[in-house]
Amino acid sequence: MAGYDKIAKHFFERRADKTRFDYNRDIEVPAMIKMVGNVKNKIILDLGCGFGDHSKKLSQKGAQKIIAFDLSKELVKFANNQKIPNCKFEVGDMDRKLKYKNNYFDLVISGLALHYVKNVNQLFSEVNRVLKKGGMFIISTGHPIFDLINESLDNSSEAKIAIKRVGNKRIIEGDYFDESKKLADLGSIGKIKTYSYTFETFLKLGLNNGFELIDYLDAKPVPSSKKYDSEKYKLTTTLPTFILFKWKKK
Ligand SMILES: C[S@@+](CC[C@H](N)C(=O)[O-])C[C@H]1O[C@@H](n2cnc3c(N)ncnc32)[C@H](O)[C@@H]1O
Repeated sequence: MAGYDKIAKHFFERRADKTRFDYNRDIEVPAMIKMVGNVKNKIILDLGCGFGDHSKKLSQKGAQKIIAFDLSKELVKFANNQKIPNCKFEVGDMDRKLKYKNNYFDLVISGLALHYVKNVNQLFSEVNRVLKKGGMFIISTGHPIFDLINESLDNSSEAKIAIKRVGNKRIIEGDYFDESKKLADLGSIGKIKTYSYTFETFLKLGLNNGFELIDYLDAKPVPSSKKYDSEKYKLTTTLPTFILFKWKKK
């Protein structure tokens, strides 16, 4: 069973819960939708689409056609149940070659899913293949700087990087350059293993696979989310949680 299958219902319902601050709804999704811009008449691919939150918003903004896939069968069921116009949801794996034809999409997006992928180089090369010339690839992922404060209540987050002083000695926890899959504490989502790619890796993935960097963002929450949790709002406006890159196929 894919990791998100077990928590699919919680993942879906949590985002609609207006009693609490939500990192996806209040930071990542609005940042991604803003960076995407106009989608009228565009053919879009949504990689690691979850229950289809981004796809739904892009459909509402007038996208011509959206194909979206996710590894989690359960999340794809939630996506299909919403009956979003012009959207086709399916089960698929970003770690495998894409089944779509060359030069087909105007835009490919991937919201917070890249850090689950091992073959990231193959993925960038495949996205370049399926995009039209001049097409855009927009990704969001965890901000490497956020690992500095990725605390967990029981100290089990292997992704955490910290320097502590004990007497006159420095104790260094974690390793920014270690890109292996590590256990990260995602709060109410639970603990899940993710890759922790460096800024260098993200930049070279685009630059070495036929893309030009068009835009970059250290995402911040929307101001209206302050009312849900002023402490989380302060935290996420002081330290960046997510990064977004906008790549253009050369
Ligand atoms: C944090 S969620 C983001 C979901 C969605 N993009 C959103 O923002 O609502 C990460 C998603 O990546 C999916 N995922 C993980 N590994 C994957 C893979 N190899 N191929 C496709 N999807 C994958 C998970 O099932 C999960 O839905």
